[in-house]
Amino acid sequence: MTSETFSPGLDGVIATDTKISLLDTDVEMIIVRGYDLIELAQNLNYTDVAYLVIYGRLPTEAQGREFCETLAEQAEIPDELYRLFELMPKSTVAMDALRTGISFLAGFEDPDLLNDNSHEANLKKGLKLLAQVPALAVNSYRALNDMPFVRPDQSLGYMENFMYMLRGEKPDAVSLDAFDRIHMCYIEHEMPNSTFAARVIASTLADMYGAMVGAVASLKGRLHGGANEAAIEFLLDILKEGGPPRAEAYVMEKLEARARIMGFGHRVYMKKYDPRAKFLMEYIPRLADRVPDGEELASIYNTVEQVMFREKALYPNTDFPIGLLYYELGIPIPLYTPIFLASRTAGNVAHVLEQHDDNRLFRPRVIYSGARDLHPPDKAISPG
Ligand code: ACO
Repeated sequence: MTSETFSPGLDGVIATDTKISLLDTDVEMIIVRGYDLIELAQNLNYTDVAYLVIYGRLPTEAQGREFCETLAEQAEIPDELYRLFELMPKSTVAMDALRTGISFLAGFEDPDLLNDNSHEANLKKGLKLLAQVPALAVNSYRALNDMPFVRPDQSLGYMENFMYMLRGEKPDAVSLDAFDRIHMCYIEHEMPNSTFAARVIASTLADMYGAMVGAVASLKGRLHGGANEAAIEFLLDILKEGGPPRAEAYVMEKLEARARIMGFGHRVYMKKYDPRAKFLMEYIPRLADRVPDGEELASIYNTVEQVMFREKALYPNTDFPIGLLYYELGIPIPLYTPIFLASRTAGNVAHVLEQHDDNRLFRPRVIYSGARDLHPPDKAISPG
């Protein structure tokens, strides 16, 4: 094993052969099961695309209806989960509460199904997770913030129910449409760290729940999914520090201090535009009048984007517009990454299915740069 095969951060390394998705940076396209993700997000809705991601083909009308019914039937989580959320320390981070919730949920699974990694068994577990993650994400946050639980309303569509739990009332059509399109943009993205984590865990023949718990832990990090929360916090900091007139100087000071501006840069896109960010930025002015500071934040957004391109030749990734869009939709900031995870559950379920259907254990090697040829002393050093 030589250093020529070592790529820090596995940059450029091919981890697997997949039929699920590809970031084709040559044509700036995210290919999902053969379709352009942006075209899907323009024309379909989240449940259609979730079906596509999981089953590999778009649903017929009857299949789409049945899929939505299955998700609705399973949307409610066991009562014990609500009790667990009430027991959590109030300082628990929403993403950690969701991680714990998914882990706890595994205990309610039929033991035969839990350890069955066949395609059919994984599909059942995956659909249940897709159905239940919205209730886990929203109601764990609600408990941590002393807000009453809003249990799923199974008469509502998947995304409408998600927004209903978030807001405690049914969403208006414009909010629901925007929320659904954002959710589609997050659904699947080839081999990000969290999907890789899920596949690595699944490759030991660990179960679907374990793989999903690992994906949540990974997605929380600010270099990954956590960037959507960091991105809006950055914009709000600028607003507090002087607003649009101060934006350029503020970014320059951060760059001079060698700070990372969250929501910019991407391992795969590098110096290219993330197609999801390009698509979603059009929604920012459309939703700006929904919050009192919407116009100012949209203006700061534009300045940050211009300065980042001028100074670093970096484009926003999808977390930059989504941070602001969720804010415009009135969603509490700690829920941004849990909502991202809810969307990505479809993608990660598809990856665990694919991994288990044709498994080989992930087990890379290292370049060892530590000491060698050391020997312990003849007798024990400590008394115990
Ligand atoms: N702000 C400032 N400089 C940046 C940024 C940024 N957001 N991103 C990259 N750079 C600079 C680095 O400082 C480095 O410059 P240098 O060569 O002069 O030292 C160069 O660009 C390359 O950066 P790396 O960290 O080596 O690139 P890598 O591919 O490892 O990192 C990453 C990619 C982690 C996404 C990085 O761009 C970053 O930290 N971005 C901010 C966090 C973020 O938005 N994450 C979300 C990604 S999308 C997603 O996960 C949903």
